[in-house]
Amino acid sequence: MTRYAHITGWGMAIPDKIMTNDDISKIVDTNDEWIVSRTGIHERRIANAEETTASLATDASIQALQMANLPPEKIDLIIVSTSSPEHIFPATACLVQDSIGAVNAGAFDLSAACSGFIYALNVATQAIRSYSARNALVIGSETLSRMINWEDRNTCILFGDGAGAFVLQASEEPGGLLSAVMRSDGSGGNALSVPAGGSKYPTTAETVAKGMHYIQMNGREVFRFATRVMAHSSQEAVEQAQLKMSDINLIIPHQANQRIIEAAARGLNFPMERVMVNVDRYGNTSTASIPIATCEAVKSGRLVSGDKIILVGFGAGLTWGAAVIHWTGPFPGKRRVRPKSLRIWARFRSFLRRFIRRVEGKIWKGYF
Ligand code: COA
Repeated sequence: MTRYAHITGWGMAIPDKIMTNDDISKIVDTNDEWIVSRTGIHERRIANAEETTASLATDASIQALQMANLPPEKIDLIIVSTSSPEHIFPATACLVQDSIGAVNAGAFDLSAACSGFIYALNVATQAIRSYSARNALVIGSETLSRMINWEDRNTCILFGDGAGAFVLQASEEPGGLLSAVMRSDGSGGNALSVPAGGSKYPTTAETVAKGMHYIQMNGREVFRFATRVMAHSSQEAVEQAQLKMSDINLIIPHQANQRIIEAAARGLNFPMERVMVNVDRYGNTSTASIPIATCEAVKSGRLVSGDKIILVGFGAGLTWGAAVIHWTGPFPGKRRVRPKSLRIWARFRSFLRRFIRRVEGKIWKGYF
């Protein structure tokens, strides 16, 4: 029997701290007028010392689970798409697994930069459609403010922090993710990268002195690439779903730059009134931008059950992709997720497991 992966829950988390263009102009030589005219960005959110990629991901996930009425132990798969993981390993997804108490889930990180959420949605959907998972949690989460050179005006004006999450659930009813296009071109990898901190350039005093642990970008090259791929991949995804552009109610693009979004809409001959834009308030939150924009589209009534939408993005890699979704909403059922008790129980469980591991270590010590 054919199985579909419906999006039954969604949530977002953004830091409280707002950084305006005027705030940035006190750090580097720039101004509000330049930033707004080139990017459409007015302000972005910046994580405080306690907020991390995993903590934002956890907050967004709990909201999504609550929306879906799905207790965490029912999740089989957690994918965190991120370019600012908490560590090289363990995966941020495992930290989220622990902090929400998803005791039956496999968890891994996916690295496809700003296109990552579309990639992760597709991977989770395929796991559901092939019967290897029934319920999946897909999260896009970033704290790129920690990887920005706050003396580089080319990059520091663009990025912001945040997270968004979707719950995907199996159903025999047609709907959910109808198609997905995933593409890459590694020949353009140096257009947008964080060169050091991996195995090629491990962190040393020299890499730090050269600022190689910061985001480096060729803005014009990325701009040209983005405007080339957005419309084309959207069209491909629509054809794959056996639909026409006229069937699409809303496009939710990656929120990198207002001008790139407008160019994509022009390329598709699609009215801007039906394109979701919130880059003005959050800047580029990388892989989190599409789920955050989706949450806001639902909240504002621009996305309702029954709609057919395109998600489309591009980013470092180079990577790009698009997906067509038949938006349905939560499965019927009574509320079973209470965020407060979920957090308390998950914390207690995590503490207990650490304690047991310590006791085990003491017992086994005598045998080695
Ligand atoms: N404030 C003021 N001036 C700035 C500036 C800033 N923050 N950043 C760059 N400039 C200057 C440049 O130094 C340059 O000056 P010069 O002509 O004297 O050398 C001038 O503005 C034009 O620079 P340029 O890089 O050509 O600007 P642009 O119109 O291409 O806009 C970006 C720059 C970064 C906004 C634009 O290229 C862009 O959005 N690219 C895509 C980036 C992106 O989306 N990345 C994430 C992908 S997921």
